[in-house]
Amino acid sequence: MSAALPTSGREWHLVARPHGWPKAEDFALREAPVAAPAEGRVLVRNLHFSVDPYMRGRMNDVKSYTPPFKLDHPMEGGAVGEVIASNAEGIAVGDHVLHGLGWREYADVPAQHAVKVDPDLAPLSAYLGVLGMTGLTAYAGLFEVASFKEGDAVFVSGAAGAVGSQVGQMAKLKGASRVIGSAGSDEKVKLLVEEYGFDAAFNYKNGPVAEQLRAAAPDGIDVYFDNVGGEHLEAAISSLHVHGRATICGMIAQYNATEPTPAPRNLALVIGKRLRLQGMLVGDHAALQPQFVQEVAGWLASGELKYRETVVEGIENGFDAFLGLMRGENTGKMIVSLV
Ligand SMILES: NC(=O)c1ccc[n+]([C@@H]2O[C@H](COP(=O)([O-])OP(=O)(O)OC[C@H]3O[C@@H](n4cnc5c(N)ncnc54)[C@H](OP(=O)(O)O)[C@@H]3O)[C@@H](O)[C@H]2O)c1
Repeated sequence: MSAALPTSGREWHLVARPHGWPKAEDFALREAPVAAPAEGRVLVRNLHFSVDPYMRGRMNDVKSYTPPFKLDHPMEGGAVGEVIASNAEGIAVGDHVLHGLGWREYADVPAQHAVKVDPDLAPLSAYLGVLGMTGLTAYAGLFEVASFKEGDAVFVSGAAGAVGSQVGQMAKLKGASRVIGSAGSDEKVKLLVEEYGFDAAFNYKNGPVAEQLRAAAPDGIDVYFDNVGGEHLEAAISSLHVHGRATICGMIAQYNATEPTPAPRNLALVIGKRLRLQGMLVGDHAALQPQFVQEVAGWLASGELKYRETVVEGIENGFDAFLGLMRGENTGKMIVSLV
């Protein structure tokens, strides 16, 4: 146990359930007491925490695959930090751990939910992104869910984001015949082609997605990796070949919708083309973790796989970071850094 522990720390609470776009008044940054960890627990000083699109769903009071955030309680999410007090075997003061109690300066974590990470192998924030949850989502969603094979033409939406940027590059590394990405700014489109090696990319805000996709993939696509839903999914269904596959990973275009959103108008094409549209949850693919880490660490070391992070400094900017993510202000993984 360490002697001088902090007596309090700040943490973000959800104080009202957002209707539509979240507002600053729905959240509060509050001071809470910090105590020495009980038996089997560790006290972690968080160094980076993750803000992710799925958290928008947890702000609603609806039954889902993750429970809603409780009002007036600290919000949760991926975080990495340094252990400053330990009352658990196998984890020592000074160790760095990945855990699920983000959105706060100090986390009192059950030891079985803390995974040791090595800051010498990769920057700590990478364990929240390229080597963490979003990286595994890309890897599992492309190789396991979409059954990607060499020669496939792949379209990915949200392509400059944490998941999308990895999907496109992984497809190229494994021999895709063509990789097309869409993103929400001309600058992001440039990055996809010039830095990540996409064969074509377009700004979905510059015109109808279906038209832009047809121009970018005149011979059609075999795989669609959906991060966005809506107009993107409809366009992809039109461009998919017979026996095409789509990984339905996210539908961020509708996360702040206040009314049910329409289904793709061309859904009936799924029949004649015998398409496979398959939803995924990254949590189902934990068994891939060792293979994922080994392969991705190799690509990172060789420089074949690139990644970006958008880092927002300071816990007080946590809500702004989340809102910025929903607005597209990030390129690559959005991280809140408390260092
Ligand atoms: N199923 C799973 O297990 C799982 C796991 C992780 C993530 N996901 C999903 O995967 C998707 C990407 O997540 P991420 O963590 O990598 O986030 P991200 O792509 O790094 O960030 C979100 C991006 O979404 C884009 N966006 C926002 N509103 C949009 C709209 N109306 N139309 C098109 N694009 C829009 C923005 O980029 P632009 O500037 O390009 O608009 C923004 O940067 C999300 O849908 C998320 O929910 C699913």
